[in-house]
Amino acid sequence: MKWNAELYDDKHAFVFQYGESVLELLEVKPGERILDLGCGTGHLTQEIQNHGAEVTGIDASADMIAKAKESYPRVTFIVADAADFHFDEPFDAIFSNAVLHWVHKADDAIKCVYDSLKPGGRFVAEMGGKGNNALILAATQQVLEKHGYPQLAVKKPWYFPSLGEYTSKLEKAGFRVTSAYHFDRPTLLQDGRAGVAKWLNMFGDAFFEGIDETEKEQILAEISDLVEPHYNKNGDWYADYVRLRFVAVKEN
Ligand code: BEZ
Repeated sequence: MKWNAELYDDKHAFVFQYGESVLELLEVKPGERILDLGCGTGHLTQEIQNHGAEVTGIDASADMIAKAKESYPRVTFIVADAADFHFDEPFDAIFSNAVLHWVHKADDAIKCVYDSLKPGGRFVAEMGGKGNNALILAATQQVLEKHGYPQLAVKKPWYFPSLGEYTSKLEKAGFRVTSAYHFDRPTLLQDGRAGVAKWLNMFGDAFFEGIDETEKEQILAEISDLVEPHYNKNGDWYADYVRLRFVAVKEN
């Protein structure tokens, strides 16, 4: 997945704006050492630092990290894989917003998090949960099949686990899950109907590999038609986001 850091900041700012409420759950204390796992362009990482923490942001995308460093030169940012990272000095807490659904090797990521926390350390995260974006996903699959791309229709770029599935993984790895929620969060798309195509262009690249631009535009229009009855609420288009949010503590 190749990220466009400018487009992300411009048209998909809701990703980190919604992250503010996840940040509240983190309850940052001044002086704490905190890791922002999948920090993107670094907006929330900077906020964590504003609370007085010593923060490091990691992200697998070199473009995102470059943008984060440019925007926030006083914060430490490193390119690293969420399922394959290591720090010699452990953290008091690890925070992650809207990232873990990209990480198919969930057990590896959870192990890296566990190993990078101090005993008693917190893992506070939100990700797409079971049923997330189900309408746009179903519409995309339907239209790709109709256009003769069954091999693209079966792609699964994201991992949207149920609450039971993910919290079981956390417990198996040695965490005590102190809270977990699975809830609907209809999410306003920027630019109404055009927001559907923009969303898929930003996040759904994998579905359109090898399709020329003219046909892709046609496919995106058909997908928009299919989701319209569910997404269009008096001219505002809301995507069917479903969140999984949890706080887990590394047992002493
Ligand atoms: C999400 O935040 O749930 C999400 C974002 C992009 C693609 C898929 C899911």
